[in-house]
Amino acid sequence: MVDERKLEELRYAALQAREMAYAPYSHYTVGAALLTKNGKIYQGGNIENASYGATNCAERTAVFKAVSDGCREFYAIAIAGGMEDCKPVDYAWPCGICRQVMQEFAGEEFRIFVVKSENEYRECLLKELLPYGFGGESIQ
Ligand code: THU
Repeated sequence: MVDERKLEELRYAALQAREMAYAPYSHYTVGAALLTKNGKIYQGGNIENASYGATNCAERTAVFKAVSDGCREFYAIAIAGGMEDCKPVDYAWPCGICRQVMQEFAGEEFRIFVVKSENEYRECLLKELLPYGFGGESIQ
């Protein structure tokens, strides 16, 4: 179990991670904060590219940072997005590719928070955002 203070820290870390975004094309900055099962938080921002398809979302930046650091077990992710230099106006739900990347490492209980401010957020489970998801167990 994770205590509520850690989850508050996670949501704040997502808001803060927007500062790490590199978004000179869309000017839409996203921050993600990923909580590992051993209590570590990895932050990531979206990283755009002049060849737009090469852009990496904030969620995947955070997941790839953690996995490349040897962590594969996650408890929750928090995500915040909005136009640069502005507070989030809407909830930044994760895109389909990021949902699929989360599916690779997320357990049944993996929690997703979308955050507008420290006091405004919504929470759901990955299986609600990606029902009938495709996972490695399908590949024999
Ligand atoms: N973006 C994310 O970082 N995460 C998502 O789940 C959706 C979109 C980024 C990609 C791009 O840099 C910008 O938001 C506009 O699409």
